[in-house]
Amino acid sequence: MGKQQMSVLVLVLVLVAYCASGRREFEGEERSGGHKKMFILHEAKEVVRTEYGEIKVVRGTSGSSGRLLHIGFITMEPQSLLIPQYLDSHLVLYINQGEARIGHVYKDELAERKVKSGDIYTIEAGSAFYVENTAEGQRLHIICSIIHTSDSDFRGADTFQSFFIGGGMHPTSVLAGFDPYTLSTALNVSMTEISEVVGTKVSGPIVSLTNPNYTTPRLLGLHLKRIVHYYSDAVAVGEVAEQQQQHYWPWLFIRKLFINPFFSNKDDGDDDAPDSYNIFDRDPDFSNDYGWSLAVDENDYPPLKIPDITVYLVNLTAGSMMAPHVNPRAIEYGIVLEGTGEVEVVYPNGTLAMNAQVREGDMFWVPRFFPFCQIASRNGPFLFFGFTTSAKDNRPQFLVGEGSVMQLLKGPELAAALGLSEERVEEIVEAQRGRAILPSAYAAPPESM
Ligand SMILES: *[C@@H]1O[C@H](CO)[C@@H](O)[C@H](O)[C@H]1NC(C)=O
Ligand SMILES: *[C@@H]1O[C@H](CO)[C@@H](O)[C@H](O)[C@H]1NC(C)=O
Ligand SMILES: *[C@@H]1O[C@H](CO)[C@@H](O)[C@H](O)[C@H]1NC(C)=O
Ligand SMILES: *[C@@H]1O[C@H](CO)[C@@H](O)[C@H](O)[C@H]1NC(C)=O
Repeated sequence: MGKQQMSVLVLVLVLVAYCASGRREFEGEERSGGHKKMFILHEAKEVVRTEYGEIKVVRGTSGSSGRLLHIGFITMEPQSLLIPQYLDSHLVLYINQGEARIGHVYKDELAERKVKSGDIYTIEAGSAFYVENTAEGQRLHIICSIIHTSDSDFRGADTFQSFFIGGGMHPTSVLAGFDPYTLSTALNVSMTEISEVVGTKVSGPIVSLTNPNYTTPRLLGLHLKRIVHYYSDAVAVGEVAEQQQQHYWPWLFIRKLFINPFFSNKDDGDDDAPDSYNIFDRDPDFSNDYGWSLAVDENDYPPLKIPDITVYLVNLTAGSMMAPHVNPRAIEYGIVLEGTGEVEVVYPNGTLAMNAQVREGDMFWVPRFFPFCQIASRNGPFLFFGFTTSAKDNRPQFLVGEGSVMQLLKGPELAAALGLSEERVEEIVEAQRGRAILPSAYAAPPESM
């Protein structure tokens, strides 16, 4: 048996020891060791905060693929707008709570999509978009992954960059950077009109749709397509008062800059942009008495191909365990949405890398190839959601349980490697008849955390 196979076996065994039957014996100094939080992501950093919402971002890590990924949390109060902008990174949005309208320039057309809880939507780097919380009394929570492209940042820094299109003093519209004469020529409007646009006093990237003090944002909140149409129609029949016209200008800029001049006034829904995908619309990939899991990849939702991301959701019942497994193709990021539990990650050399108690809002990540497992606390279900950095069949390889690597490998080789008889190995390896999600009453962390 080669050295490599041997180390795989050792690793598998250590895992089995930790995550399954022999677990109790390992409690002690290793479990309370210094790397309890090794793969817990640090607290989200606030990047935007206004009266109407906030955006927090957690820096991810660039794995073997060299792609850097961040996780963002967008919270928007009812009747608010995240003003039009584009990013140097791809966005995969997941609507965790609430409803929204997303406007998105796709293939020279403006597409608007209504999205609701459980929906996934992607926006490619460089595509202008905005988000509106249209609900009357409900906050909007979006979890997104922000994925660097290879050209993302010319400075080589590890952040992402927003380019605002709307905006005035703060944030400043990218348009404001151009020489006014250049802009005036480019847009074929007068210098006065230019100064109206780049001088709007929009306060922060998330604004109210209803505060009468922000005339521009209020108008911005209207359906963009309608504004564009309304404006052209209304101007044609002289309906828009001169003073009001000013406020429409930002939208005309967007149209001129980002939408094909041959833009045809198609009806709603007649564009080529993909629809959103609701994660609850289909049956889980795996489900048993102890929980379920599902993953949405490019086969389910083709727009995930470009950001190259899979979105997953796992629900473990109280006290259940996602059996020790490995991601052969991707780094995994997880965010706890509900309940409490434990995440264990093991180093390639077969020592425990992390054993962390996690609760709602905590985030963890797991390097590609590293074995890990998640266990729900005994007091309730454990729901976690996340992204993996590959849109192509990242089938987790289970190390124990029915159909697992251990069971496939059992035989004289494994017996020899373990120095046990084949029968003994068989007994041990076959003891677990469950698959993927297992009951684990006594491995589960206690109720209080
Ligand atoms: C610029 O605008 C004027 C009127 O506002 C119009 O007559 C002219 O055709 C426009 N030029 C271009 C290149 O669009
Ligand atoms: C609008 O501005 C006025 C004067 O600055 C202020 O008194 C009022 O509270 C503002 N209204 C809102 C809804 O913010
Ligand atoms: C997760 O499973 C529990 C039962 O264990 C169920 O009550 C809960 O609704 C599920 N959560 C979701 C989001 O499906
Ligand atoms: C295993 O690898 C980790 C990380 O490289 C290291 O910190 C740890 O000391 C190693 N443990 C042993 C027993 O070699």
